[in-house]
Amino acid sequence: MGAGPAGLLLSHLLATNGIESVVVENRSREYCEARQRAGVLEGGTAELLRSVGLGKRLDAIGMEHGGIYLQFDGSRHYVDFRSLTDGRTVTVYAQTEVVKDLIAARLAAGGAIEFSATSVSVSDVASDRPVLSYVDADGTPRSVSCDVIAGCDGFHGICRPLIPEISVYERTYPYAWLGVLADAVPSTDELIYSRHESGFALYSMRSPSVSRLYLQVAPDEKLEEWSDDRIWSELQKRFAVDGWSVAEGPVREKSVTPMRSFVSGPMRYGRLFLAGDAAHIVPPTGAKGLNLALSDVVVLANALRAALLSGSWELADAYSDTCLRRVWRATHFSWWMTSMLHVAPGADAFEAQLQLSQLRYVTSSRAQATALAENYTGYRPARLQT
Ligand code: FAD
Ligand code: DHB
Repeated sequence: MGAGPAGLLLSHLLATNGIESVVVENRSREYCEARQRAGVLEGGTAELLRSVGLGKRLDAIGMEHGGIYLQFDGSRHYVDFRSLTDGRTVTVYAQTEVVKDLIAARLAAGGAIEFSATSVSVSDVASDRPVLSYVDADGTPRSVSCDVIAGCDGFHGICRPLIPEISVYERTYPYAWLGVLADAVPSTDELIYSRHESGFALYSMRSPSVSRLYLQVAPDEKLEEWSDDRIWSELQKRFAVDGWSVAEGPVREKSVTPMRSFVSGPMRYGRLFLAGDAAHIVPPTGAKGLNLALSDVVVLANALRAALLSGSWELADAYSDTCLRRVWRATHFSWWMTSMLHVAPGADAFEAQLQLSQLRYVTSSRAQATALAENYTGYRPARLQT
């Protein structure tokens, strides 16, 4: 269920093991391919995509990054991932591109993706023949009798509520991100995470001519109050360092994203498995959401391969615990990055001094910088079994 990165990659991995699937998605293909979201792939995620035949455009247009800048108190400090780790890097490759690659690969292989489905529902998940029902784009009611159903239907999906007695751990943050996509040549070689008294700002990119920028705003921020001029002047202010400025250009798109940490478990009930945002959300500051979704799917593909091809359900029984260990590490890291860099409304001078002390520590202690580098570039990837 769901043609986001999780559902599409799972379908692709199952197909490589000869396991048939149908992906049911309630949005159109155009919508799924245009939805602006994440942009950073951990080294292990990029390797995974290459290893399953999805590396061509990634290698052509993905941009490898060997570190990030942390900016505070008007100065910028480089955290060099390559020298802090055993040469690890990340790749800036937009989620929209990952989704396009996956859709193209599934369709080229004759895979079934039902876009624009309506009345999607799931039943009998406690039996060994759960049923997925929907009305297809032509208005024909369909019903699929399945071995398993993977709920990859995102945070607002319908699968998570089907797990009885699920535990939920949640934190909402008193701010949101205004995301901006602009036809402006990036003025920086590496991403910049900036803490400023007016709030956090992040400088990312999509190509040598397109910048992706984020500004901390209020959770109920009204988009119409952010003219392009106001966006650029706020970005100039929050990224200001002597002798440098943000290159401006036409704003192509802008939107507001709320910030939340959310973990639910178990991620399985009977023959229903949750993966990706359907089970957990992290605030975007650590660039982990997309990577976690794809990591769940590798664990799930291995488990389903063992269960459906060899009748061995041990990996499936361990699925939730295996995923949640990584999810909690990423949840802690994302919370830590978020808390260090954002200015909470009403935060006092004590809190500001703690943040600045932490930022000075991370940018001066090799041990602290290594901890950031290890978490940002990613954890030991789940190994795909073939
Ligand atoms: P999704 O991408 O949400 O895919 C779920 C799919 O299921 C969707 O296509 C949806 O249409 C479909 N669906 C939902 N309900 C149904 C239904 N009832 N029937 C059929 N289909 C259904 N992460 C970062 O690391 N950095 C970022 O900057 C960042 N920005 C984000 C901005 C936004 C607005 C959001 C929502 C997320 C952002 N994320 C970011 C997180 C990252 O994009 C997600 O972690 C990632 O999309 C998870 O992939 P997924 O496949 O699990 O879920
Ligand atoms: C991007 C998004 C993030 O959340 C992040 O931490 C880094 C980069 C991006 O969209 O490029």
